[in-house]
Amino acid sequence: MKPPIPIAVTGAAGQINYSLLFRLAAGELLGHDQPIILRLLEIPPAMQTLRGVVMELNDCAYPLLHQIVITDDPCVAFENVEYAFLIGAKPRSQGMLRSDLLEQNAEIFAVQGRALNQVASRQVKVLVTGNPSNTNALIAINNAPDLPASCFTAMTMLDHTRAVSQLAQRCGVVSRQIRRISIWGNHSCAQYPDLRNATVNGIAALSLVDQPWIVDEFIPTVQYRGTEIIKIRGQSSAASAANAALVHMQTWIQGTADDDWVSMAVASDGSYGIAEGLVYSFPVRIRQGQPEIVQGLDIDDFSAAFLRRNQTELQDERETIRHLL
Ligand code: NAD
Ligand code: LMR
Repeated sequence: MKPPIPIAVTGAAGQINYSLLFRLAAGELLGHDQPIILRLLEIPPAMQTLRGVVMELNDCAYPLLHQIVITDDPCVAFENVEYAFLIGAKPRSQGMLRSDLLEQNAEIFAVQGRALNQVASRQVKVLVTGNPSNTNALIAINNAPDLPASCFTAMTMLDHTRAVSQLAQRCGVVSRQIRRISIWGNHSCAQYPDLRNATVNGIAALSLVDQPWIVDEFIPTVQYRGTEIIKIRGQSSAASAANAALVHMQTWIQGTADDDWVSMAVASDGSYGIAEGLVYSFPVRIRQGQPEIVQGLDIDDFSAAFLRRNQTELQDERETIRHLL
């Protein structure tokens, strides 16, 4: 039996985690021969609900679930962890923008950044999901000066899988036949879902779909999917977000396929003219366990306008939380 590996998850009593925790416990992240310990962080008012979730996890008798630790102290939750899912944060309700959450959620990521800095493994892989996820990740990075910025990513995997699904449906294929979709920028309605490099069964997507569909349907559908889910379901996406979090971390650990890439928000290194340090979604490949921004893609004027707009939006978000950096 391998020694168990701890996985930290915040917001453990919330909606996303009601799906994610059970998939982690079933071995979907680290494999079906790898025991795990769940280190679950919540705030005191949610502890009672969390105890109920723990009862349900125990009732599943998962063979790989070695131990569950519950705590309201981030330094306990993150102690020596190699994997941290930062999910705990307020979700938006109908009529709100994700950036409207900054005031309530930003401080959480300053506190958790400091705790990760103090106690996490120096190779920790941190996925920020709590919204607005790019800027929350920026806050965490800036509060963890002893950890490399490359330890932190924010989630645009849900936008990526939404885009893959839309293209697959349009072309009458299944998702595994799609490659090289890109999500650029912010996890917001400004994001740029880009299929200029995408292929469907090896054929250029641009030769299979027309420009009006891309501009009037594909891009706005992906940009506004979160808003639409809140309108229809009455609550923000949960199971699909949990799936995206799992796929994001799995890909970070296992790597990307040779002929494909994924989208992740990472600290910009200046690629494609995006200001250094901003947490910005790019197409990335995983090399030696780290996301590397795919280089050399052609950016036409239409795309460049989206890229600039996202940069401006993220710079504006950064200004509102400057005091936390
Ligand atoms: P939820 O309200 O159901 O659960 C959030 C949980 O976080 C609650 O149980 C709350 O008690 C807990 N929490 C609050 N502050 C905390 C703190 N300081 N430490 C630990 N836990 C804390 O919300 P949800 O539906 O699970 O969504 C969580 C976040 O994920 C929201 O901000 C939502 O907008 C975001 N989200 C992001 C994406 C994405 O693609 N990036 C997708 C879906 C949801
Ligand atoms: C999503 O994209 O579904 C999430 O970010 C939740 C939201 O607020 O839209």
